[in-house]
Amino acid sequence: MPTRALTKALAARLEELLRAGRLKGSEAVICGFIAAGDNRGPRYLLEGEGEAPFLRMNSNNYLGMALRSEVIAVEEAAAASYGVGPGAVRFISGTWSSHVALERRLAAFHARPAAMLFSSAYAAIMGIIPPLVTDKTAVISDELNHNCIINAVALARPAEKHIYKHLDMGELERRLETAAKSCARAIMVTDGVFSMRGDHAPLDRIMALARGYDSAFAEGAIVVVDDSHGVGAFGPSGRGSEEFTGSPQADLLVATLGKAFGVNGGYVVAEEIVIRYLRETSPFYIYSNPITPAEAAAARLDAAAQKVHQLQLAPAGDLTKLNLALRQTENALITTAGLPNRPWYRHTIYAPGVLTGYAAVVIPGVNEAIDARDHNLAAQQLTVLTQAIDRAAAVLSAAP
Ligand SMILES: Cc1ncc(COP(=O)(O)O)c(C=O)c1O
Repeated sequence: MPTRALTKALAARLEELLRAGRLKGSEAVICGFIAAGDNRGPRYLLEGEGEAPFLRMNSNNYLGMALRSEVIAVEEAAAASYGVGPGAVRFISGTWSSHVALERRLAAFHARPAAMLFSSAYAAIMGIIPPLVTDKTAVISDELNHNCIINAVALARPAEKHIYKHLDMGELERRLETAAKSCARAIMVTDGVFSMRGDHAPLDRIMALARGYDSAFAEGAIVVVDDSHGVGAFGPSGRGSEEFTGSPQADLLVATLGKAFGVNGGYVVAEEIVIRYLRETSPFYIYSNPITPAEAAAARLDAAAQKVHQLQLAPAGDLTKLNLALRQTENALITTAGLPNRPWYRHTIYAPGVLTGYAAVVIPGVNEAIDARDHNLAAQQLTVLTQAIDRAAAVLSAAP
């Protein structure tokens, strides 16, 4: 049977991934959660772990919106009114009033003329880059951009693809100069807050380069930012990397509704004509269902933004510092203290409000203890860290 040969090849590939330490393996199944209370954050129950309560340290639900009773109530009420699925793609008959209302709110939140929803931020990036690329377009992309950008650029097949070193503005400019010799359009694309590092793009400088080189391209030089980790969690009012860097508005800004906003889905904001063009040409929008009308109702940006204010975020630069420290700790725990390398503790980015300065002091302590092979001290430090995170989670849960 031909499939036998295929399954053998697939099994060999899985074995290779395992040997290279890249197999993700079985996923932890969350089968329940205990709501925050008594001055502590929520706890999670895992399949196979009985009643042992787990602290979830790697969620992107930065502001705790996913568990808030008022958000759940809005989603429930909308599901009761509209049903649980959109029933069709948008242009056939899948556009509901909550989709339109959310698009208006997103546009207003980012002070843009128009917004457009996608089923996820991944779909948004895949859906907007190919229609913007012609056979005379250069795409210029940071080497650590998210996987959705890498795949969108592959799908778009631009005339020229330039990858610059992470955050290297000198190389970005040189790539622009090269592209200007033969291309009519340049698209610079970057994560806002980088999902792999937790650092952020110098958007102000990228925008300055785009404006400086705009006239070198017959159809201009534009900037596309995917600020899925930044929006809602970064910048004094949660407007993300643009706000944090004091940058002019990017030409197209993409973000997710599935992290700080706690729900699900993705979107792009831009000028009216760009959004009109994308609604007519983006396959991920035209041929794929939108988020449900109830999800659209639950993505309460105003509530999330209000929460950012209320939490009075720590200086936003702390995000990078804390995140890097936390990653070092994770790596040290895995490689030195022998904890299993499970995705459960991987991929951790905390909003500035989640980890306090207190935790930042403790984390290096954990590293040092691990380096000194002092596992008791490491365990103590880790307990303090856990308590700090828990306190922060409790504050998040309590804030309106
Ligand atoms: C930069 C970036 N874009 C897109 C996504 C995917 O978002 P979504 O789950 O809405 O597709 C992520 C998720 O980690 C991300 O970091």
